Amino acid sequence: MRMMAILAAVVGGVMAWAMAGCGGGDAGSAGTQAAGTVKIGFIVKQPEEPWFQREWRFADETGAKQGFTVIHEQGQDGEKVSSAIQNLATEGAKGFVICAPDVKLGPAILAQAKTYGMKVIAVDDQLVGPKGEPLAGVPYLGIEAKKIGELVGKTLWEQMQARGWTAADTALCAVTYEELPTAKDRTDGAIDALVAAGLPQGRVFKAPISRSDQEQANTATTNLLTQHPGVKHWLICGMNDSVVMGAVRAMEAKGLKAGDVVGVGINGDKVAIDELKRPGETGFFGSVLLSARQHGSDTVEMMYKWIKEGTEPKMDTRTSGVVINRANYQQVLKEQGVE
Ligand code: GLA
Repeated sequence: MRMMAILAAVVGGVMAWAMAGCGGGDAGSAGTQAAGTVKIGFIVKQPEEPWFQREWRFADETGAKQGFTVIHEQGQDGEKVSSAIQNLATEGAKGFVICAPDVKLGPAILAQAKTYGMKVIAVDDQLVGPKGEPLAGVPYLGIEAKKIGELVGKTLWEQMQARGWTAADTALCAVTYEELPTAKDRTDGAIDALVAAGLPQGRVFKAPISRSDQEQANTATTNLLTQHPGVKHWLICGMNDSVVMGAVRAMEAKGLKAGDVVGVGINGDKVAIDELKRPGETGFFGSVLLSARQHGSDTVEMMYKWIKEGTEPKMDTRTSGVVINRANYQQVLKEQGVE
């Protein structure tokens, strides 16, 4: 009997070791941690996006400071999310923070986490239940999407006025991803603010995409431009910097001049900053800088307290943003300790 138990323990140990080795999990602050340290997973839908790399970095920093380990996992689709969760279980994680590739995976993600006794916090994209409602039992930290969208709209309107553009000559290219609530709220906010300020509803044109992707935004915008060749000046909004950048590049490719295009992104990530650093104006006017620090750091801290002390996180936390452009970005980034 004793022999069997030892054998099982050895086999179990070897399996755990083998699975951890080939699973691709990347422990942000592992190595110096003692055994028994709390491990927290951080699964993201687009690991190549600068926004998610920033979140990971701030999560790691908080883990290193407070003495827990953050394990990075990639979740570009449902299958990858499922193997990431399995991996985390093998590594002994007691919970994870996730920005899922599809918010409708919510119930499946929660069910799988429960089988391993893991807690779940959603970041950026709120997981939803079968009727599209926020998934019960999963705390969420995301942006005040509608307000941030309104800030984009207000900035676009100010630029339109400053350039003396008339509504007859100007139109809005809204790159929309309406299946994702936080994306829809952002573009709805921008459209509402512009229409409230005086842009006729008939000057709002949507270029729909089905995921947050520069390439898709580029194609959708190219199609939109073909449908509306008479527009002289374009305003652009979209769910984040990559999407707005895709639209700006499509306009450039169609021969529109930088002075005839005003795009305002969201995130203030590397995509936006690199563009603002380029000499001369481009159609990418600015962005709303969000706090990747808060998203990465606060979510893992909430998870840590939940695991360690049983303190349940607040169910819904929203963060705000500030407009950055060529004139102020260096100052704002410095103030926020971003770069
Ligand atoms: C979504 C977007 C990201 C970023 C976050 C902010 O997940 O895909 O680029 O804007 O929201 O919460």
